[in-house]
Amino acid sequence: MDLFEHEARDLFEKHGVPVLRGRVVADPAEARSAAVALGGPVVVKAQVKTGGRGKAGGVRVVQTADDAEQAADDILGMDIKGHTVHRVLVTEASEIADEYYLSFLLDRAGRTFLAMASAEGGMDVEEVAAARPDALVRVPVDPLAGVDSAAVAAAFPAHVRDEVAGVVEKLWTVFVAEDCTLVEVNPLASTPAGIVALDGKITLDDNAAFRRTSSHDDCADGDPLERSARAKGLNYVKLDGDIGVIGNGAGLVMSTLDVVAAAAAESGARGPANFLDIGGGASAQVMVDGLTVVLGDPQVRSVFVNVFGGITACDAVAAGIVRALAILGSRAAKPLVVRLDGNNVTEGRRILAEAAHPLVTVVATMDDAAREAAKLAIAEV
Ligand SMILES: Nc1ncnc2c1ncn2[C@@H]1O[C@H](COP(=O)(O)OP(=O)(O)OP(=O)(O)O)[C@@H](O)[C@H]1O
Ligand SMILES: [Mg+2]
Repeated sequence: MDLFEHEARDLFEKHGVPVLRGRVVADPAEARSAAVALGGPVVVKAQVKTGGRGKAGGVRVVQTADDAEQAADDILGMDIKGHTVHRVLVTEASEIADEYYLSFLLDRAGRTFLAMASAEGGMDVEEVAAARPDALVRVPVDPLAGVDSAAVAAAFPAHVRDEVAGVVEKLWTVFVAEDCTLVEVNPLASTPAGIVALDGKITLDDNAAFRRTSSHDDCADGDPLERSARAKGLNYVKLDGDIGVIGNGAGLVMSTLDVVAAAAAESGARGPANFLDIGGGASAQVMVDGLTVVLGDPQVRSVFVNVFGGITACDAVAAGIVRALAILGSRAAKPLVVRLDGNNVTEGRRILAEAAHPLVTVVATMDDAAREAAKLAIAEV
């Protein structure tokens, strides 16, 4: 789960990473009193879980409390890359001598953790990495030994290295203690008051959710379909296409997306509308939940259910599909292409054939099923 900047700021503060004083508010009048309480010039910053807020006009440095109120009024309600601004963070403004970049992340390809640092912060790190790869220092981090902070700090000018090394250690503490997969500071600023994290992005590892006692605000943002899927405990990601995808097992669903994308490219359909892994126990209720979310997407024109029976046998899945369609009734109004294989496939196919639901087409192979789903997605209704 991604955190808002103000939540990242609070976790930084908890672990001793230098941050500025600030307060998160939801209306312009509160922004004014926050500015009065902070005193002096302040920065009003949109709280949305997406990058590029500054470029979109969502970060404003202002001199007075009046201006802070006005800036909050302008920024609240703003749409930044599809995210509505519900709150702003009002923080002290600081004089900035230099802007650096610093992050820790999980490097899946390298099977390690990685620290990345650059003396050229403030801008998109992707641009720095593309234009001048040498300007971005990458230091692998052994999770048991911890971070070599001197190696990371070597990316920065000599006069700040010692101070930055201390911040590197503290950010690594945040990464470990809070079970993160990403901790990013851009910019890490050199100011008259020393090194300060002016911005923070944190992604928490959802696999560690069970041992977290604090709750984070997950509801005020994000795609509504993704939110409802999460509430149902489904592993769902919204995509842009018109073919809904439901499968069991993340690997199978990933390859289904590839096959559907290829079939869509051939036929003129738009491609997969989502990723949805219903996991091992494909019970009727899980099918109902999955179909409800996928069919609730107005862009979906056909759905491909791709199941390989393993521990969950195909007959149980087929029975789940039939019962789900009975429960959904007229809410299931889009064609379904079902491909079943593996454990008890014969019985599974028999159950679907016997039910003979008018919206369901059973196709034997994954490629043919993807082509059928793509054909149905572009068919006139
Ligand atoms: N407290 C502050 N005082 C002075 N300037 C600031 C302060 N906070 C941010 N800025 C300036 O605004 C710029 C953008 O701020 P920030 O990094 O928080 O947003 P962003 O990078 O545009 O958003 P995102 O991180 O979502 O891409 C910074 O690079 C910095 O120059
Ligand atoms: Mg930033």
